[in-house]
Amino acid sequence: LLSSQLSFYKPTPKRYKILLEDKAFPSDHYAIESQIRLRGLDVTDSMLTIAPRQGEDTIRTEDIVSVIEREGEAMALVMLSGVQYYTGQLFDMEAITRAGHAKGCLVGFDCAHAIGNAEMQLHDWNVDFACWCSYKYVNSGAGDLAGAYIHEKHAHSVKPTLTGWWGHDLKTRFLMNNGITILVEYQSLTQTLLLEIQHICNLHTTYRQLSYDILTTIIQHAESHLTTY
Ligand SMILES: Cc1ncc(COP(=O)(O)O)c(C=O)c1O
Repeated sequence: LLSSQLSFYKPTPKRYKILLEDKAFPSDHYAIESQIRLRGLDVTDSMLTIAPRQGEDTIRTEDIVSVIEREGEAMALVMLSGVQYYTGQLFDMEAITRAGHAKGCLVGFDCAHAIGNAEMQLHDWNVDFACWCSYKYVNSGAGDLAGAYIHEKHAHSVKPTLTGWWGHDLKTRFLMNNGITILVEYQSLTQTLLLEIQHICNLHTTYRQLSYDILTTIIQHAESHLTTY
């Protein structure tokens, strides 16, 4: 979430607010607060939160859409969950994305409780970006890899992005001359190979229809990565 917001949160004097849930998961709430402070902005003014109506347990889509319609021109980001951890509801990501785009906002979702749990069509819904941890419905261990989705329309459209050596074209990466040729935006750090292997195994055991021989998968994956270097 922090990494994607470094690229996608581009506040301007007129458009700087972020919409999130009143009870967003604390990691998200704090991450958004940090982003706002890092840009030298005021948290109270820049964070817009939305809650269920009095006496209700879930946040209505119509309320989300109406706050976007009302305040969207000052919003840089709409940043909600896919499945809200506190209310348990699956948000209508497509309708929310449509409403955000109609007001010129970028729309991202924290899919920590949606990944492996709800069917999503992030690309078809035109969602700009999303992220998730893998230790809930994807059953990986705590601390295992997080995931990120970025719509392909943003492959090169967001400038600047959080880039780094691992996005450097492999043909020239090892010249070590600090002359970066970005092949993949947003990809910045060295891959954590062992965690990746663990993650792939978790996916195979979670979604048994794939019924792979796990050991073979580990070896193949390790070989295909290691031989490159
Ligand atoms: C909605 C949501 N976002 C983020 C996280 C965790 O993020 P991190 O482990 O990076 O603090 C959780 C963990 O429970 C979560 O439920």
